[in-house]
Amino acid sequence: MDSSFEIIKTKEDSCQLNTYKKLPLSIERGQGVYVYDSGGKKYLDLYGGHAVALTGHCHPAVVKAVRDQVEKLIFYSNVVYSSVRADASAALIDVAPSGMDKVFFCNSGSESNETAMKIGRKFTGKKKIVAMKGGFHGRTMGSLSATGLGNYRNQFSPVIDGYVFVEFGNIKELKSSLDDDAGAVILEPIQSMAGVEVAEDEYYEKLRAICTERDVVLIFDEVQTGLGRTGSWFFGDRHAVVPDIITLAKGIGGGIPVGGVIIHEKISRTIGPGEHGSTFGGGPVASAAVLANINVIKDEGLVQNAREAGDYIKRELSSVSTVRKVKGRGLLLGIEIESEAVKLRDFLLGRGIITGTSSNKNILRLLPPLTLKSREIDMFIEALKDY
Ligand SMILES: Cc1ncc(COP(=O)(O)O)c(C=O)c1O
Repeated sequence: MDSSFEIIKTKEDSCQLNTYKKLPLSIERGQGVYVYDSGGKKYLDLYGGHAVALTGHCHPAVVKAVRDQVEKLIFYSNVVYSSVRADASAALIDVAPSGMDKVFFCNSGSESNETAMKIGRKFTGKKKIVAMKGGFHGRTMGSLSATGLGNYRNQFSPVIDGYVFVEFGNIKELKSSLDDDAGAVILEPIQSMAGVEVAEDEYYEKLRAICTERDVVLIFDEVQTGLGRTGSWFFGDRHAVVPDIITLAKGIGGGIPVGGVIIHEKISRTIGPGEHGSTFGGGPVASAAVLANINVIKDEGLVQNAREAGDYIKRELSSVSTVRKVKGRGLLLGIEIESEAVKLRDFLLGRGIITGTSSNKNILRLLPPLTLKSREIDMFIEALKDY
């Protein structure tokens, strides 16, 4: 281990609130699917900086857009118009499912979900929100109230009133929860942190139909699945399932903190001036990053690459004896192994490959940049075979 890392670690540990279990390395530089630590060691980043580096680390087009914007105007709020915010909003709507015609920008996934649930309650006038066991939606009080995974929520009770939890993938349970008080359903279409759980195809279609039938707002938390990661721009695209609200964050700003909510036309008129807001949301630098990032995804065909690379990984993993099963779509994958995934993650780290774990101790999680190529996948498979 390089000595500069020890100095960085000691300093950070002594000053920072102890809320993260960190990997023993300090990442100082990144380019594409690779990052470099304080000692200059190179790593293949299959964790994508926590699912954030959608177009790779420091994509030159994103870097240029941010740099140009910083030189012109770092910030002005939503109290004035902004050409770059207008362009970023239009670019997001352009790739969104048809009928979704308004965007609200904020700064994180938790805030996106707060926004969606507020709009859901306002639109229906109903308080009850149905969420999923195993779902993760963030750490702020509202998003935490909707989080059904592990112990994130319970230790901070009382949380916000009105949330009920049903089993993900179980349409019967969902139906019986949708009484006259239910205003919204929120779910991750793929439960990532729970271990990359995907429901049966027909679940999503039935879910859409029942929400329409009972006038309930359907919210897809696409903080991890959105903008191409699963091999389509948005999760529902492949099923022709269009939710009423999509929430986004992580990769949409190419690494600049951005959250966003895309809202269906039938709901968007619910909210008027003063009823919701965010000082920094949709700021010029964040908007420049979103615009450049979306253009890169389009220009480089990254949605298709995510699908093809994901299929390639699945094919290659079928011949690896330690692998029991591979779950997920595109480049959001959960690799199930017999032993503890954390040990495999540490082994791979030693081989210069960063991967993730989840709340399921047997699942190794991959959330790499959508620019991932077969030669990098081959490196990962070779390392896995040596485990
Ligand atoms: C599916 C999902 N929703 C919401 C969040 C919360 O996002 P943030 O940490 O940006 O608030 C996360 C973060 O991991 C997430 O994975």
